[in-house]
Amino acid sequence: PQQPSASIRLSDYRAPAWRVETVELDFDLGIDASEVTAGLLLRRDPAQDAPLRLDGENLQLLSIRLDGRQLPATAYRYAGNVLEVDGARDGSVLETRVRLRPAANTALEGLYLSGSREAGFLLTQCEAEGFRHITFFPDRPDVLSSYTVTLRADRARFPVLLAGGNPDGAGELEGGRHWARFIDPHPKPSYLFALVAGRLEKIERDYVTADGRAVQLKIWAEADAIDRCHYAMDALERSMRWDEQAYGCNYDLDVFHVVATHDFNMGAMENKGLNIFNAKCLLAEPDSTTDDEYRHVEAVVAHEYFHNWSGNRVTCRDWFQLSLKEGLTVFREQSFSADMNSAPLKRIEDVALLRRAQFPEDAGPLAHPVRPAQYSEINNFYTATVYEKGAELVRMLAGALGRDGFRRGMDRYFARNDGRAATIEDFLAALGEANRTDLTPYLAWYGQAGTPRLKAHGHYDAARHEYTLTLAQHMPGNHGTEARPPLPIPVKLALFTPHGDMLPLHLDGQTSKTGNELVVVLAQAEQNFVFTNVATAPVPSLLRGFSAPVILECDYTPDELALLLAHDVDGFNRWEAGQQLAARAYEDLRDGTAAIALQAWCDALAKLFDNAAIDDALLADLLTPPGEVELAERESAIDPQRIHSLRQTLQQRLAERLGALALRQRYAALVAHTTIELDAISQARRRLKRRVLELLALLDHDGACELAAGQYRDAPGMTDRLAALAVLVRNDAAQVGAALHDYRERHADNALALDKWFAVQAQLPGEPALDRVRALEHDAAFTLKNPNRVQSLLGAFVRNNPSGFHRLDGAGYRLLAERLVALDALNPQVAARLATAFNGWQRLEPQRREAARAAIVELAGHRGLSRNLAEIIGSVLNH
Ligand code: ARG
Ligand code: ZN
Repeated sequence: PQQPSASIRLSDYRAPAWRVETVELDFDLGIDASEVTAGLLLRRDPAQDAPLRLDGENLQLLSIRLDGRQLPATAYRYAGNVLEVDGARDGSVLETRVRLRPAANTALEGLYLSGSREAGFLLTQCEAEGFRHITFFPDRPDVLSSYTVTLRADRARFPVLLAGGNPDGAGELEGGRHWARFIDPHPKPSYLFALVAGRLEKIERDYVTADGRAVQLKIWAEADAIDRCHYAMDALERSMRWDEQAYGCNYDLDVFHVVATHDFNMGAMENKGLNIFNAKCLLAEPDSTTDDEYRHVEAVVAHEYFHNWSGNRVTCRDWFQLSLKEGLTVFREQSFSADMNSAPLKRIEDVALLRRAQFPEDAGPLAHPVRPAQYSEINNFYTATVYEKGAELVRMLAGALGRDGFRRGMDRYFARNDGRAATIEDFLAALGEANRTDLTPYLAWYGQAGTPRLKAHGHYDAARHEYTLTLAQHMPGNHGTEARPPLPIPVKLALFTPHGDMLPLHLDGQTSKTGNELVVVLAQAEQNFVFTNVATAPVPSLLRGFSAPVILECDYTPDELALLLAHDVDGFNRWEAGQQLAARAYEDLRDGTAAIALQAWCDALAKLFDNAAIDDALLADLLTPPGEVELAERESAIDPQRIHSLRQTLQQRLAERLGALALRQRYAALVAHTTIELDAISQARRRLKRRVLELLALLDHDGACELAAGQYRDAPGMTDRLAALAVLVRNDAAQVGAALHDYRERHADNALALDKWFAVQAQLPGEPALDRVRALEHDAAFTLKNPNRVQSLLGAFVRNNPSGFHRLDGAGYRLLAERLVALDALNPQVAARLATAFNGWQRLEPQRREAARAAIVELAGHRGLSRNLAEIIGSVLNH
């Protein structure tokens, strides 16, 4: 643990004074101690006159040689995580030998042990700055080097030795030891280095790239998990084909390794040639994996694979450019998932995530631009803003250029920046130049925090048959004090007749456009768009497909929203109209006003419920009102428990309108189709079945619990089983104890299944949640040392259970603060991420606000907090 340090600024960027042309790494691997010898061929920038300074953290320096000579103690200094060496010249070779302690590494950064000392394996995590925990190095992404890596270890304990690159020999050593060497022909930054060593099993597949390279795909996991890797292998092959077709990107090594571990701080990591995955993002089998998790596995496998071009071949100049690779790769991953599954459902899922995770971040004290201007701890910036909002920015650019134009631009971007460490300017320049357009106005999106508001107002002139759409943008909290330039906001739109038909569009202006659907770009603070030959007063469908990451403010009547909900052919906007209408219905209940929106919402959904043409999964989503976090975003003095109960009432009204009989019949029809298949129709049925059962429970508690108990018992797979268990838990069913007990026994040996057992209970609504969490902390399977387990219990409680966490007495806040202190001493990255649950405390109603403030202040006063946690707590308090 260290003290908070000064922040690092984008504006301070300087090219490295010293580069490393080649690096030879030799590892003598052991659980308690490993030794690393590094030989660096150094290159000096003749234009700079800086001493050789290398990053290194917690390294025990055993020896240091420069150009073959042992250095005297006076010729180097190691302090403050920097090694400074005298006498190095351009072309010098520096050789250091250090000792590491993998088993004692609980931060899971650098070289660490996954699993037990007896059975576990060694692995590395370097992004963002883990490599400096392995050896002395200029640990920054703009230093690209060629790696040769040799691993040595006891053969019985570490039968499998892997590093990134192509294999270059292996053999026996004395004393039961062996070695293996790997050469990576592609120069790379240190954050993409990886090794894995231990007892692992594998599945393999041969693959031939479109440009003719034979590649061996190998997925590695511990023996008990290897049978759950087949789905990931299929997903990997689909990803590789898709990237060839969609972007002309081919894989570029002879072997591609993927490894699963249960001990990982994030989802997965794109190390060159050796991707490492959190097991929950890789393993899948019907008995322990839900449909949502299957799709997540497919998406993460694709994401990490796509990084091979967007991230590895073209990397980032500095960590401020993180979204250059992450936003772009999330966008590519989203496009892939849309192609593999239902495109509108994928878009709904992505926007729902953006609203649940990114909008609150952007609206509170942790808000930062997609390209932050400064940070103290870079690991705190792997955020929804950098990832999800970053992907939305790429989506806008892709929309602006069109399908072929975007491909042309991407070809240019990859070709021009291959083997380079690039910036967001480089990206915009390549896209723009390939299309002879200037995209620099979009740079403003990367530099400012906050979610823009888009105000829309329509006026129909019946005499002239003209419809004028006035669009205006503003940034909340900006109060006109600092003038920010307006952002380019692409608004995809259509106009509907009162009968639900789309009107042909004629847009007058410099470039007159026609069609049923158009994109207008709001480039100024306010603009009018005049549509001519409009036969009747239209209902506008705006921001179709969520064409820009903004909050739309439009004075729709409930009837207009109901019309779009019934008729919009844009699946996303249909859902969106329903969400807006549901939010209005919620406000009817909250404010005790005439329930006009509530009525309209229920009526529209009742019609859709009987419409056989509508997809079951879309229907399930339409029947789901905005979540508690989203509803809270619309308020200023937040009472999460009141929001929960109002939302329950809202759903109860919907259930009443649909009727217990209709719900029961629909449930029975869906149960009759119960299968374990993964095709879209089966998944959609399971999704709707769950939603129908949840709604029925609001009308007929005992009856629904009876059905849920039956569903739990008969479930052929995890989706149905977990859905039933969740209904039993949330309704405090008489059968819940037996079901929880059964699940605990059944999945006792499956960590990922057990995580869901913790999570479902941590989401018990309201007051009882806290005691349940405390009790579960005493379960033999709970530990603060495993990030997935922490997330499943504490994460699910503080993040996914607002009515449980935000107790009026503040006990939820105190629990979180206490656990953060303990967690921080083990794993600062995980502690810092959990601490972001305090985001938004300023907007709580006064009593909770004061309780939260007291807990955070007390935590902030704690001595020895990590830089990670200190930065989050500091930001959360000081705004
Ligand atoms: N680059 C990884 C990804 O695909 C995330 C790794 C971040 N790790 C970390 N410790 N910050 O998204
Ligand atoms: Zn990524």
